[in-house]
Amino acid sequence: MDPDEALRVVRETNYVTWRRQGGWDPILVTRAEGSRFWDSSGKEYLDLSSQLMATNLGHGNERVIAAIADQARHLAYAAPGFATEARATLSRALGGVLPKGLNRYFFSTSGTEANEAALKIARAATGHQKVLSRYRSYHGATAASISVTGDLRRKAIEPLQKVPGTVFAPDCYCYRCPFGLTYPDCGVACAEYVDYQLEHESDVAAMILEPVVGTNGVLIPVPEYLPRIREITKKHGVLLIADEVMSAWGRVGEWFAVDHWKVQPDILTTAKGITGAYVPLGLTATTAAVHDEFRDRYFPHGHTYEAHPLTLGPAVAAIEEYRRLGLLEKSRREGEYLLRRLREIQEHHVSVGEVRGMGLFAAVELVRDRAHRTPFNTEEDKIAGRPLVADQVAAAMLKEGVFCVSWVSHLVVAPPLIVTREELDHGLEVLDRALAVADAKVGNPG
Ligand SMILES: Cc1ncc(COP(=O)(O)O)c(C=O)c1O
Repeated sequence: MDPDEALRVVRETNYVTWRRQGGWDPILVTRAEGSRFWDSSGKEYLDLSSQLMATNLGHGNERVIAAIADQARHLAYAAPGFATEARATLSRALGGVLPKGLNRYFFSTSGTEANEAALKIARAATGHQKVLSRYRSYHGATAASISVTGDLRRKAIEPLQKVPGTVFAPDCYCYRCPFGLTYPDCGVACAEYVDYQLEHESDVAAMILEPVVGTNGVLIPVPEYLPRIREITKKHGVLLIADEVMSAWGRVGEWFAVDHWKVQPDILTTAKGITGAYVPLGLTATTAAVHDEFRDRYFPHGHTYEAHPLTLGPAVAAIEEYRRLGLLEKSRREGEYLLRRLREIQEHHVSVGEVRGMGLFAAVELVRDRAHRTPFNTEEDKIAGRPLVADQVAAAMLKEGVFCVSWVSHLVVAPPLIVTREELDHGLEVLDRALAVADAKVGNPG
């Protein structure tokens, strides 16, 4: 199809996610290789955000592509009530990478479905309704997942589509501590307050959290936070769900972010990097103890595409590729370089309030006023469709052929783990230049 015609058809007939529908002017992506993609005019783009923090293996991985073709030829689909070889092989491979004790698996086709299953399992297993979550969080678009989401995407569906029972706990976000405290004198009040909440709440099934918060700012918890949350949830008999849809598969330099703190959740969810986004797969992993709750009890969940063989075979190849290419070590090594370079960049941009990161997962937080840490924009600005400074920086980068995700008042730098040092340097040079757009607005009341 002629590129202009293709763009016109898509624009006129498709919904675009999480924004006003008017004024959508997408790029027509025609091909991709490694950390790069091209549009219909032949313009090349470096991807500094792995599309949506998902293409950890980059594009064109021949082993994953071969696994897709093999699986399609051999057995493309079987109903979820059947066992398949793909199911067995992936289950065995998962046993070698997941945190100890997470050895019962439910497969779906997205992150939100993985969380939907986790929440239903937690509620059914415990007989309780409430779920503790945190404001700076995103857990997915479907009913239960969006209801435990803290960010603006929940506000946009309230109150009509909200599942009742979410209780919000404080964020572990030192740059904007909800208690106005400073680490370590704070005594990790954000964790201790959860103890207080659980003492005074009733009917709580689980606490769900992103061990490293993704879209909402790449928030890395202080070292005591997650182990303490694990202790507190155990003490109160509340299940801990780690949402690792974005933070897993080498993104932070480990298979899973919880591995950094040696924390074992009762339920772990993941998607995205599990296949490097070559095929859509979601995973809900639980302990045997959680699974045992349903041994003689009806398990109230399922999908036609649960354990779809075409999603499982390629995940085995993806796991082998993370190992063969040494991508966890590479993410740790290049992540240190990335953070060092971002700190250098911060030094000569008044609009950069904080940079933070772990592995190849970093955020650049933009502020109108460094002294008061005033963000350029708020969630309300985004819902209202007002122009956002972070989006303007990302647009300036795109013009120069570098794609980087922006969200409210920060940028998420999370390239494919196969990114080369030269590519990273090029992406950061372009980011450095584009930050002039934000610098020019510093001190401007908006
Ligand atoms: C932490 C987290 N959980 C859940 C989701 C939802 O995943 P999906 O978009 O595949 O439904 C996302 C998506 O970005 C995410 O980052």
